[in-house]
Amino acid sequence: MKGKIFARKEDDPTTNATFLLRVDVPLRVDKLTGAPRQEGESAWRYRLRRLFTVKSIKSLDEDYQASKLKKSLNVFDLIMIGIGGIIGNGIFVLAGQAAATRAGPGVVISILLAGLTASFAALSYSELASMIPISGSSYTYTYATLGELIAWIIGWDLTLEYLVGASAVAVGWSGYFRFFFIDAFGVELSSAWTESPFIFNSTTSSFQTVPGIKESARFATFVVSVKLIVIFLFIIAAGTRVHNENFHPFIPQNQGSFSSFGVTGVLSGATVVFFAYIGFDAISTIAQESENPQKDLPVAILGSFSIVTFIYVAVCVVLTGVVSYTQLDSPAPLSVAVNAIGMRWLGIIVDIGAVIGLTSVILITLMGQPRIFMAMANDGLIPKFASNIHPKFGTPYVITIITGTIASIAAAFLPIDVLAELMSVGTLLAFFLVNVGVTILRFTAPDAPRKFRVPGGPFLIPFIGAALSILLIATATVPTIARLFIWMAIGLVVYALYGSRRSEVNNQEMCIEKATDRIET
Ligand code: ALA
Repeated sequence: MKGKIFARKEDDPTTNATFLLRVDVPLRVDKLTGAPRQEGESAWRYRLRRLFTVKSIKSLDEDYQASKLKKSLNVFDLIMIGIGGIIGNGIFVLAGQAAATRAGPGVVISILLAGLTASFAALSYSELASMIPISGSSYTYTYATLGELIAWIIGWDLTLEYLVGASAVAVGWSGYFRFFFIDAFGVELSSAWTESPFIFNSTTSSFQTVPGIKESARFATFVVSVKLIVIFLFIIAAGTRVHNENFHPFIPQNQGSFSSFGVTGVLSGATVVFFAYIGFDAISTIAQESENPQKDLPVAILGSFSIVTFIYVAVCVVLTGVVSYTQLDSPAPLSVAVNAIGMRWLGIIVDIGAVIGLTSVILITLMGQPRIFMAMANDGLIPKFASNIHPKFGTPYVITIITGTIASIAAAFLPIDVLAELMSVGTLLAFFLVNVGVTILRFTAPDAPRKFRVPGGPFLIPFIGAALSILLIATATVPTIARLFIWMAIGLVVYALYGSRRSEVNNQEMCIEKATDRIET
């Protein structure tokens, strides 16, 4: 590189010594970013090139090797974290409501259709997780395929899935918590108390003490076990009281509008219960803490997904089989169903299971968000403090505390339907890009080792998965789509002012000089 040479003082953070660094300043320095332009490259071409710079699989591999996170999770921990992050409001609340207002007993078909849609994304996540064991999930996959700008967009978008998602589930938690007191003690908690921010602080107490990932996994295993026992108890005990007549008509006749019953009601029911499957991708945010990510992540993603699908179908069959679907329009449909058949004891157990189950979803989404921010901070796109690792626990503690606090505040002040729908569209956008990413990487990195491959070649499953994701986004309400765009616009401003100037990948030339050109210590 032609240009001027000068020496600059730098501090060595490991030894605290000051040294002089030789810096080659190229003749063509971009006014906006201060970074060097290639010979003969126009300003616009240069900026466009930077926007679409791709992070190589090799440098992702180097990031993985250099990671300071503790690698302590085995495949069992990962499956437990997967199930813990998936089973929540979707099955405890939304499935019953979808049966009551949209699909009738046909909600069983809705849950299968939603599962099919999510399964394409699960396969694509599995392939990319087996190739790129970095904790940024779809943000990192997109950086390796579609370049920095789209990666930024998806990283910013993932806050809707994880941060907003944690808030949405925390609101649902509060609802079941109230029902538990009503069912068990006949006591109705004052709304002034249940709506206080302090409620949500107590649900997310995990982020206040910031334990290590292994402790979080142990806690997840405990709550997931309780949640599974409660659900199986519901399936078996209430299953003995299923009456055939409740299944007739299986798909009630359409009542005039697209979403109320009939075949279209079943389809719109699928959009609602799609929320129930979100969460398997959280496994890909803890890739760097897994003992054997390339092999274990696909097993955990597909394993937890299959177990959950089986449970969901069974719950929907039993739920709509014990009472008429018309009774299920409630914030706690499972409790309503068992109370209606005189099993009050089971209602109380279901309330406890739901409260505990939703706690694990909150814990796992709040585990995912800081790890995505950490990956973005490591790439220089957000400030470095977000990647600070706790010296003892080996977790990104500063950003965990910050995201947990923001999620609590959002949960206290925003309504659940706004939060839940935003979470769904945010996640679907990520699913779309992950599906597209599989196809792109099959061509741009054909020889990179993949422990798992999506069956059927580079097009079939990723394309169907991408198309279905867009289709489901299109069914969201206009205000939700508007909120998505506003959030993305804010993100682009942040990127223009910060990330685009400080991106490590785009300033590699300077980074290399820093590493090699010490001239005096
Ligand atoms: N799948 C999660 C739930 O249903 C988000 O709560």
